[in-house]
Amino acid sequence: MKAEMAENMPKLIEEYGRAPHLVVILVGDNPASVSYVTGKAKASEAVGIKNTTIRKPADITEAELLGLIEELNADDSVDGILVQLPLPKHISEAKVIATISQEKDVDGFHPLNVAALWQKQPCTVACTPLGVIKMLKEAGIEIAGKRAVVVGRSNIVGLPVSKLLLDENATVTMAHSRTANLAEITRQAEILVVAVGRPRMITADMVAPGAVVIDVGVNRDPETGKLCGDVDFANIEPIASVITPVPGGVGPMTITMLMQNTIDCFKARCK
Ligand code: GUN
Repeated sequence: MKAEMAENMPKLIEEYGRAPHLVVILVGDNPASVSYVTGKAKASEAVGIKNTTIRKPADITEAELLGLIEELNADDSVDGILVQLPLPKHISEAKVIATISQEKDVDGFHPLNVAALWQKQPCTVACTPLGVIKMLKEAGIEIAGKRAVVVGRSNIVGLPVSKLLLDENATVTMAHSRTANLAEITRQAEILVVAVGRPRMITADMVAPGAVVIDVGVNRDPETGKLCGDVDFANIEPIASVITPVPGGVGPMTITMLMQNTIDCFKARCK
């Protein structure tokens, strides 16, 4: 998909007179966030999107950060604004997200974009859930009529991916940390999406043979220190029909969707 975007970029530049411009704001120096932001800059470069990464110290005030976002909202040369989460405790993420103008909200986190998603109106959809659906479709997996189980109910993944699966006519169960008999429910899944943030939370006995398993977790393995997902990949890979690895599955797909959202916001703004 990135190669295709790169191939089409010269045409876009010719048509609109410039390349799309994504601004990423990173507050503080959380190592995972630094790594994500670097990945976004690299993908932008590969696709031909102009990327500006603005780094601010962890002690930036909320007012200063909101002021910076307002400036970027008003800057006509900026098409997408992404504030890397999480933010330091003294800054309200909700306020920050709501301050980004809806048409530059490449993350799809703005309340108006979220509302539009739940009303099936055109909107920017959050990158990770969008990537999950895209992967299923690209892999030729039929979603309509299937029993999908989503474990996790976050604003970023669990809630929107459940809605997108529902829109694809899956029968969706939303499970979470307080679900009773979780294994019994996950075993019914023909499509299992896990976004909890707990290493090896999903064990082989919780997965039906032939299930499609999408692992959204990004964790550090407490034993090896390596990146790992929420799913016990080694023991589930032999029984699942398909399964996404961590790293290398949902993560790169999320970044690719961010590139797509940036191009889409650019096009909509330039119209
Ligand atoms: N932190 C973890 N995932 C994301 C994401 O998709 N967008 C932003 N802005 N921050 C994140």
